[in-house]
Amino acid sequence: MIERLCVKIPDYPEPGVLFRDLTPLFGDGPGFNRTVQALAEAFEGQFDCVAGVEARGFLLAGGIAHAAGCGVLPIRKEGKLPRETYRQPYQLEYGTATLEVHTDALPRGTRVLVVDDLLATGGTLEASGHLLHQAGLHIAGFGLVMELTDLRGRAKLGGHRVRALYRL
Ligand code: PRP
Ligand code: HPA
Repeated sequence: MIERLCVKIPDYPEPGVLFRDLTPLFGDGPGFNRTVQALAEAFEGQFDCVAGVEARGFLLAGGIAHAAGCGVLPIRKEGKLPRETYRQPYQLEYGTATLEVHTDALPRGTRVLVVDDLLATGGTLEASGHLLHQAGLHIAGFGLVMELTDLRGRAKLGGHRVRALYRL
């Protein structure tokens, strides 16, 4: 189902990148529902809050948190959070960016599941992990819809549990 509802776009957002677009999966009721349930079940009982990485991780985090009856933590691109933040610059497959979380986002020791749509080079989730560490939070694991294994992003996630629903 994930493969069927993923569209491949050559040379987006720049030449040489084969972009996997998961918006058709997110727009499909059964597809989105099964995706959210599968990620919630993979980490059942292991997390107290779900962190979503801006922007596509937000969609998943809301669904998973709702399914599990817990709250969400937004990991945002820089300049979006209104109070004091921790900041972490990182490299993307196609550029650089900075992520932030509020310094007082959650009580220290809270078990946080971090979710995003896709693992490519791993820079985004590595930076997210650094931010949670700075905030004194426990990383319950990383949940993804898709993993591009050739880019070896998993190696950057330092021994934490990583569950990708579809690996290619
Ligand atoms: C994409 C994707 C992941 C990240 C994966 O987001 O949603 O967050 O890249 O790449 P990486 O493993 O190489 O770090 P993007 O930064 O394009 O942001 P967006 O969701 O705001 O479009
Ligand atoms: N699809 C979606 N997001 C991405 C990709 C991709 O192929 N590569 C890096 N981020």
